[in-house]
Amino acid sequence: MADNIGNKAAHDYHLDIAPAQEGFYVKGAAHSDWGMQNRLSRIFNPSSGNTVMLAFDHGYIMGPTAGLERVDLVIPALAPYVDVLMGTKGVIRSCIPPTIPAAKCVRLTYDSTVLYDDMSNGGGFSCDMENAIRMNADCVAVQTFIGAPGESRSLELLCRTADASARYGIPTLGVVAVGKQMERTERFFLLATRVLAENGANIVKSYYCDGFERVAAACPVPIVIAGGKKLPEPEALEMAYRAIQEGAHGVDMGRNIFQSDCPAGMAQAIGKVVHEGYTAAQAYEVYEEVKNRN
Ligand code: 5RP
Repeated sequence: MADNIGNKAAHDYHLDIAPAQEGFYVKGAAHSDWGMQNRLSRIFNPSSGNTVMLAFDHGYIMGPTAGLERVDLVIPALAPYVDVLMGTKGVIRSCIPPTIPAAKCVRLTYDSTVLYDDMSNGGGFSCDMENAIRMNADCVAVQTFIGAPGESRSLELLCRTADASARYGIPTLGVVAVGKQMERTERFFLLATRVLAENGANIVKSYYCDGFERVAAACPVPIVIAGGKKLPEPEALEMAYRAIQEGAHGVDMGRNIFQSDCPAGMAQAIGKVVHEGYTAAQAYEVYEEVKNRN
């Protein structure tokens, strides 16, 4: 039985050795079926191996978040600059034209809203697999509460989703939640990201932290980083740059794009960091250029 006391500490992440990648470029997916690999290649650009996911699912717990008051005006205009749109079934169906070519990641779980603010039951299913398939989802997302009262229930939702989505060749994105009481340490993210991958997540959404290169190395599937609360643009670009340099395979960013003074500039600047290896300073020039043009 595993316990958390007296265990020998993990320490050897072989940071100088690339993970085994025979046959397919997405980490951990070399032995997947054709359909799974095809969907992953819509998510992760085959040239860079990375992805820019635009998260706009905030309303499912926060209501009309700043910048997302009118999803129908904001998100379709940003779609040309990103690889994946991540949202709920309700907002994708009502606000995103089905002609948009970007891949879609549909959130399958609900959680307590900010009014009730109690994550202890771990949430439930808001969308079933049949409905996600009807929407032609390229990916499905499940939130997990590792180290918190909702842990067990949210892991059950993840496991059930990973099994159901594997049946249809659809990747599952496991989302590491960081609640008020949760740590944001290397130790926490090492554990949380690995637990999600072990339970079947094909992609893990987590947060950048000190020691991120060990977190990325120990996670057998790609990690994409969330942006979190809005930062000044140069800081958000620096965080994305460091994450990519230290082993992230992209971002799944929301507020740092759609709450920017120039969301289109920020989306394009992030794309340069993620797909072309631009530094934060180089990408900020792209942001400024787009902003000055508009
Ligand atoms: C949290 C999510 C959200 O989609 C995500 O965190 C939002 O992105 P950002 O933090 O960059 O605004 O999955 O559960």
